[in-house]
Amino acid sequence: MHPRRRFFRFSPFITKPGRKGVFFLMSVRIGLVILALGVSGVDSLAEEPSPPSPERSRELIRMVRQDCGSCHGLTLRGGLGSALLPEALRDKSPAGLKYTILLGRPGTAMPPWQPFLSEAEADWIVMQLLHGFPEESR
Ligand code: HEC
Repeated sequence: MHPRRRFFRFSPFITKPGRKGVFFLMSVRIGLVILALGVSGVDSLAEEPSPPSPERSRELIRMVRQDCGSCHGLTLRGGLGSALLPEALRDKSPAGLKYTILLGRPGTAMPPWQPFLSEAEADWIVMQLLHGFPEESR
């Protein structure tokens, strides 16, 4: 047999494998699908992030009211930073807002918060902002 043919016989991309190749091929394909899902972001499936613990929620609310509020206004109506009220954010992409929070906006005063927030927490903050951010409870 020609060595090239031998190679193709075991290639996962041919459609008519020899009988022996079928299982190998199926497992390779399943592997590729899983890999593709992993790479292309199962991330986008995580639309509903599991909420942070009540304790962490309080910390995050405090952080947004105090730290973010120092630029975005204590009532989040805007200041140095733009308004973060639901009306202002409604038409923006939640994923875009999340990455603005995590990565900041280079060239503007908006700093990256990635060192302090997980991606799920940033998602949670965006969701809260879109629904009207909770007040700090004392
Ligand atoms: C040092 C000031 C500063 C702080 C602190 C700050 N921001 Fe910002 N932020 C800005 C500025 C300025 C912009 C507008 C950037 C631009 O011109 O595009 C912005 C933009 C944003 C946007 C995009 C709004 C839009 O309409 O696209 C979001 C969301 C945001 N900030 C969230 C936050 C959150 C959440 C925090 C706290 C974790 C925070 N910011 C803290 C200055 C700040």
